[in-house]
Parts: sequence; C-alpha cells; structure tokens
Amino acid sequence: MKTKIKAIALALALALGFGVLGSAVVASEVKSLRPTEASQPDAPPAIYKVMEGTKHDRAYRQQPPLVPHQTDKYEIDLKVNQCLRCHEWPYSDQEKAPKISDLHYLDRNGVRQDTVNGNRYFCKQCHVPQAEAKPLVENKFQPATLNTNLR
Ligand code: HEC
Ligand code: HEC
Repeated sequence: MKTKIKAIALALALALGFGVLGSAVVASEVKSLRPTEASQPDAPPAIYKVMEGTKHDRAYRQQPPLVPHQTDKYEIDLKVNQCLRCHEWPYSDQEKAPKISDLHYLDRNGVRQDTVNGNRYFCKQCHVPQAEAKPLVENKFQPATLNTNLR
C-alpha cells in the first residue's frame, strides 16, 4: 500500500515538474505583438482612411471582397442589418450595389434558406473596409491555387 502511495506521489511530482518546465519554455519563446505590458492599457490603434472609389485585388480566390466604402455608420444587430438594406435583393438593384452571393443563404449543412443565414449575418466578420495598412508582421503569402495553364 505504502509503495503504491509513494509511486503515485512520485508520478504526480514528475508530472507537475514537467508541467512547470514546459510552461517556462513556452513562456520564453512566445513574443507578444503587444508593445506594452499586459497590465498596461494599449495605445489606441491607428485610424486608417478607407480607400473609397478604388477596388483592391483579391489576394486569393476565396477571399471575401474588401469593402470599398465606409462601414462604421451601418448598424448590425439582432433587429437590423443596414448592410442588407443595400446588398440584399431587391434593394441591391435599387441602390446599384453588388448583390450578396447565394452562398450567404446556405446554412451550415449547405441547405438553402430564404433569408441570409446566421453564419453570414455579421458582415464585418469577413468583409473589412480597404485601407492602406501595414501588415503587423512581415509575410510572404502566396495563394495556394493559381491556374498555371493561363500563364
Ligand atoms: C447605401 C448603400 C450601401 C450600404 C448601406 C452598404 N453598402 Fe456595401 N456597397 C454599396 C455600393 C453601391 C457598392 C459598390 C461600390 C463600388 O463598387 O465602388 C458596395 C460595395 C460593397 C462591397 C464590395 C463588393 C465587391 O464585389 O467587391 C462589399 C464587400 C460591401 N459593399 C460590404 C458592405 C457591408 C459589410 C456593409 C455594412 C457594414 C455595406 N456594404 C453597406 C452600397 C452600400
Ligand atoms: C463568413 C464570411 C462572410 C460573411 C459573414 C459575409 N460574407 Fe459576403 N462574401 C464572403 C465571401 C467568401 C464572398 C465571395 C463570394 C462567396 O463566396 O460568396 C462574399 C461576397 C460578397 C459580396 C460580393 C458578391 C458578388 O457576387 O460579387 C457582397 C456584396 C457581400 N459578400 C456582402 C456581404 C454582406 C452585406 C454581408 C452581411 C449580411 C456578408 N457579405 C457576410 C464571405 C462572407
């Protein structure tokens, strides 16, 4: 009985020891993008001017198009979605705005719904206004799918 308890105690001590070691290693490797200590409030982010009138290229085929106009005045909550006031048919025709694609009406099982599905209701989750903003970290992004036959 005693040896069993000792064995369990040893196992626990080892596990805890490794846990502490493990987290120490991780903590020293992780570098936060945050310039200040976690306890300090962040400096407010830069306010970028929305690039209106021009249209950015998509960086990859599946990219949600960037928004070529201001968005901060358009309310989106459970009751209203002012983006749909211009982008959902038939308003899209009246406002001469691009109509949201039919994929915005599919539920998570791929079944077509009559209204915009919840998974695409909060537009700004995917569509961000276009701005000349510097990347936070350097990257060498290349899209995975490029049709090489066309080049
Ligand atoms: C007053 C009408 C109106 C409202 C409200 C509106 N838009 Fe637009 N939106 C437009 C028009 C018009 C264009 C086309 C402008 C252009 O191509 O220069 C457009 C373009 C876009 C595009 C680019 C589509 C593409 O194919 O490139 C996106 C994305 C978009 N809007 C998203 C939004 C989102 C998200 C909201 C809500 C936060 C919103 N819009 C609210 C009128 C509106
Ligand atoms: C989950 C991500 C996501 C959300 C949320 C979303 N979209 Fe999209 N949207 C896309 C993608 C991806 C495309 C590119 C075509 C496609 O896959 O439907 C797109 C395309 C569009 C287009 C261009 C359609 C075309 O045929 O060129 C407009 C306009 C648009 N979305 C507006 C909206 C509005 C308005 C909302 C909110 C009601 C919204 N989107 C919510 C991902 C999203």
